[in-house]
Amino acid sequence: MLALTAAAATLALAGSSLATTTITAAPSPSQVQQAVKRAASQNPLTDYTYSYSAVPYQVLPGAVGRGPQSGYNICNSTTSGPDSQCQTLVANNASDFCLWGSPTTSPNGTIGDVEAAVVAYCTNDQHGARVIPAGAITGLQLMHTSAYIQWTGHINMTALGLTATDTGGELDPHGADLAGNPLGGLVYSNQMPGGNNQTEIQAIEWNNFVGSGVFCLKLCFDNTQNEPFYCENKFDLLGCSYNMPAAYQDGVFLECDGDLQDVVGTYTGTDGSKTVWSQPSSLPATSTLPWTPRVPASSNCKTYQSTDLFPNSLLGYQSTSTPSSTASSATMTSGASASRSGTSGAGATGTSANAAAQTSNTSSANEVVVSGAFGAFLAGLAAFLA
Ligand SMILES: *[C@@H]1O[C@H](CO)[C@@H](O)[C@H](O)[C@H]1NC(C)=O
Ligand SMILES: *[C@@H]1O[C@H](CO)[C@@H](O)[C@H](O)[C@H]1NC(C)=O
Ligand SMILES: *[C@@H]1O[C@H](CO)[C@@H](O)[C@H](O)[C@H]1NC(C)=O
Ligand SMILES: *[C@@H]1O[C@H](CO)[C@@H](O)[C@H](O)[C@H]1NC(C)=O
Ligand SMILES: *[C@@H]1O[C@H](CO)[C@@H](O)[C@H](O)[C@H]1NC(C)=O
Ligand SMILES: *[C@@H]1O[C@H](CO)[C@@H](O)[C@H](O)[C@H]1NC(C)=O
Repeated sequence: MLALTAAAATLALAGSSLATTTITAAPSPSQVQQAVKRAASQNPLTDYTYSYSAVPYQVLPGAVGRGPQSGYNICNSTTSGPDSQCQTLVANNASDFCLWGSPTTSPNGTIGDVEAAVVAYCTNDQHGARVIPAGAITGLQLMHTSAYIQWTGHINMTALGLTATDTGGELDPHGADLAGNPLGGLVYSNQMPGGNNQTEIQAIEWNNFVGSGVFCLKLCFDNTQNEPFYCENKFDLLGCSYNMPAAYQDGVFLECDGDLQDVVGTYTGTDGSKTVWSQPSSLPATSTLPWTPRVPASSNCKTYQSTDLFPNSLLGYQSTSTPSSTASSATMTSGASASRSGTSGAGATGTSANAAAQTSNTSSANEVVVSGAFGAFLAGLAAFLA
């Protein structure tokens, strides 16, 4: 009798909740397999792939290694705002993209301090993340290539919750323990092959550097790590200018088609011979790199005003120059930011140091200027060793 009553009560409850519950499909075998793996141990982050609509609350919820991850991957209007802990980054176009930044609510640390726990900061509030105030990004070049899509530019670091003087570090889906920085971080774009500018497709291989007022983010189309591999994550003592050589023009906002960069560390001498450079575990202060990165040519550049891209600006970007409207092959310059993020074998401590990015101005198209990179690199090195 008692048991029956209890059963009846349970049934009644089940009945009432049935009325408001949506019946969902059973998980697919691969989803089950991934869940079992997550529960048992932890695979490399790059093993966890999801369609955008099937992202789990956390990719790495286990207390394994550095885990569990600090934030979450399901990001929506509820999670949007200045204290969002969203760890799913979306990068679609010149006006709609995110970068990784500090999970703190005041700009009181460096990317090296927080690399495992970085969260998404986006140019709008559509991705359940924090919002980069318009005006904080003061220069941008979005480069479409046949093997990757890349955002490079200048930013007020405090807009990413970082101290203005932070010299930076690298974020990528690997790290010494292969759990990624941030742990459990996912990246999506509608510019991946098959996305047709509409469907968010996961980028498995990507990297993002930020430091000294410069940022760069690259999403690779191929996730096999086969050569030529453009998202190599082992050059973390070098910054944007080596890992993603591009124009880095401040005050200019461009979207271009681009040639492919050289694979980082591989360079061609004037006699045509190829040399491969491997990053040592540390670099003496007197070292010089044997090459200066070639800035890939760009074409079909579309020029924007900051206010076109980021109209909700309270600050507004006051452009003092008038960039040419069709800067085909606009290229240029340097901005070396060496960094140490602990992603390549040095543990996960993430001390970082790098040089102030140098920017130079080029008004004429087709001019290729690569200057100051070594000086900046060496300055970064000195800071790193200090
Ligand atoms: C919104 O995101 C939060 C945090 O990930 C999650 O708990 C919640 O279920 C999401 N809401 C919807 C409607 O998806
Ligand atoms: C970026 O994509 C959004 C959403 O599709 C669109 O509204 C916006 O115009 C695009 N921006 C640029 C610069 O193409
Ligand atoms: C930075 O601010 C956060 C709050 O957002 C606080 O928890 C943390 O301790 C601060 N870190 C330092 C180094 O002051
Ligand atoms: C960066 O942003 C902060 C906060 O809005 C502001 O105080 C600071 O002046 C800005 N720095 C530059 C160089 O614009
Ligand atoms: C997607 O956008 C790219 C770059 O803006 C453009 O070249 C391409 O034609 C677009 N593709 C579709 C299917 O709209
Ligand atoms: C950019 O060029 C203008 C005009 O040649 C010059 O006045 C300015 O100092 C330059 N800025 C930088 C950062 O070199």
